[in-house]
Amino acid sequence: MKSIRALPSILAADVLNMERDIGEVIGAGADSVHIDVMDGRFVPPVSFGESTVRAISRRFGIRPDVHLMTVDPDRKVASFADAGAGALTFHAEAFVHAHRLLGEIRSAGMSAGVSIVPSTPAEFLLPVLPSADIVLVMTVDPGWGGQDMLPWCLDKVGWLSRKRQELGLSFRIYVDGGITAENAPLAAKAGADVLVAGSAVFGAADKKAALESLRESFP
Ligand code: DX5
Ligand code: ZN
Repeated sequence: MKSIRALPSILAADVLNMERDIGEVIGAGADSVHIDVMDGRFVPPVSFGESTVRAISRRFGIRPDVHLMTVDPDRKVASFADAGAGALTFHAEAFVHAHRLLGEIRSAGMSAGVSIVPSTPAEFLLPVLPSADIVLVMTVDPGWGGQDMLPWCLDKVGWLSRKRQELGLSFRIYVDGGITAENAPLAAKAGADVLVAGSAVFGAADKKAALESLRESFP
C-alpha cells in the first residue's frame, strides 16, 4: 500500500486567522504546509513571500513546502533557504536552466522541485528528472485556488510515474490544483504521492476529516 501525503495549501486559509488555521491542520497531522509564492508576473496575483515562510516555520517548527510561481526563481534560493523552506519548487516555464537550478536548491539544503503548468507536456522534464526530488504537476492553471481540476493533467502524472519506475528514480510526484476527496483517488491511481489541497482542506468544517479522506486515496 502506498502512503499518500496530503499537503494543505495556505492560499485557502483565512488570511486574518492564519495562525489558527495552520495550527488546526498541523494539529490534525499535516507534517508541513504548502506555500504558494506569486509575484504578479509569472501569474497575475501576488501572494506570500519569505517573511510568511519564516514566521510559519518559526511558529510551528516546520520547514514549509514552497511553490514559486515567479519569474527569475534563481534569485530566490538563498532567501527561501534562510527563511526555513524545506522544499523549493520552481516552474520550468519560468527558468530555462532547470538542471542548474535544481542543483543549487539541493546545495542550499532544500528538496529541489520543478513544476509544469497544464499547457506544458511532461516530456519536457525528461532530461532533469534525475536531478529532481519533486515534480509538481499543476492540475489547474496556476494563480488561483478554488478552480476545478483538469482531469487530462493526470495523464502526465501517469507518464511521470512510469518513467520514474523505468529509470529507477525516486522523485515524488505532486498534484496541485482542484484536488478534492472525490478526485484524489484518480490522482493517487495515476501515481501521485503528494496531494496539495487548499480549498478542500481549509474550506472544510472538519479539517482533520478532510485531510484523512485525502490520505485514504490509495490506488
Ligand atoms: C494554485 C496553487 C495551489 C492552490 C490550490 O495556483 O498552486 O497550491 O492553493 O488550491 P485549491 O486546492 O483550492 O485548488
Ligand atoms: Zn501550489
